[in-house]
Amino acid sequence: MRAVPHLMFDPMVDPSGSARDALGVGQSAAPGLDVRHGTILTLEDINVSFDGFRALRDLTLYIGVGELRCIIGPNGAGKTTLMDVITGKTRPDSGKAWFGETLDLTRMSEVEIAEAGIGRKFQKPTVFEALSVFENLELAQKTDKSVWASLRARLSGEQKDRIEDVLTTIRLRESRNRPAGLLSHGQKQFLEIGMLLVQEPQLLLLDEPVAGMTDAETEFTAELFKSLAGTHSLMVVEHDMSFVGSIADRVSVLHQGHVLAEGSLEEVQANDEVIEVYLGR
Ligand SMILES: Nc1ncnc2c1ncn2[C@@H]1O[C@H](COP(=O)(O)OP(=O)(O)OP(=O)(O)O)[C@@H](O)[C@H]1O
Ligand SMILES: [Mg+2]
Repeated sequence: MRAVPHLMFDPMVDPSGSARDALGVGQSAAPGLDVRHGTILTLEDINVSFDGFRALRDLTLYIGVGELRCIIGPNGAGKTTLMDVITGKTRPDSGKAWFGETLDLTRMSEVEIAEAGIGRKFQKPTVFEALSVFENLELAQKTDKSVWASLRARLSGEQKDRIEDVLTTIRLRESRNRPAGLLSHGQKQFLEIGMLLVQEPQLLLLDEPVAGMTDAETEFTAELFKSLAGTHSLMVVEHDMSFVGSIADRVSVLHQGHVLAEGSLEEVQANDEVIEVYLGR
């Protein structure tokens, strides 16, 4: 696989040396997305209640352009709800949610948010089992989601190149003509990540991506995410601490809908409150 240098979450690596907000790592983003302050996602004082139960409370979180952020925390901490807010599935009762400097996520539909460049992978793979690996990627690339209309339409050279690149990235080049239903669980997960990548998202949200994977698949996932960081921003929710340790620049610990601690994995692991509510169990 093509080696892409892993940009650390550190404004000092910005080769231009220009003054940016502390979050920026100096990556250019897609045309149309304004990230001039180096922050791709801004969440401020987000509140979400379900029948009086406060799933997110005054949650504030910033993700830098090109950053790979891990979100950890006990069951029920609000990690999935946080992703639901970012993708427009759940509307916050209050708070701010911005993609780049100008896109107000609280006023956009789920489709608009996806089209603006936020891709989400759910835990359970949702590939079309009867279609080949290539056809799944082809379908994901199309904006018209009608299966047969999409498969009949001819791909442009550029679109084909993109699919070829993604097949290499997700290591499914050899399996391109296999029905997706015959892939292993891990390969289906990689295919689903590929289905996000063909849409060229700026921000990828991945909820428990290595659950159920073999050790080798987990290791490849770590490599893949590190290679995507820098050119993409990633938010990864995961309980597997050794996986988190192998990828994370920076970790946010969620507890009862609030960010309890933030820092390197070593820093949050040394935090007394974090040990008490999560790691020490
Ligand atoms: N649609 C909903 N209606 C009512 N309660 C909900 C809803 N969605 C989530 N909750 C509650 O909000 C809290 C946060 O749930 P969430 O799924 O975000 O946790 P999580 O951090 O992803 O947990 P896990 O690690 O188990 O996946 C939980 O107590 C959950 O029961
Ligand atoms: Mg969850």
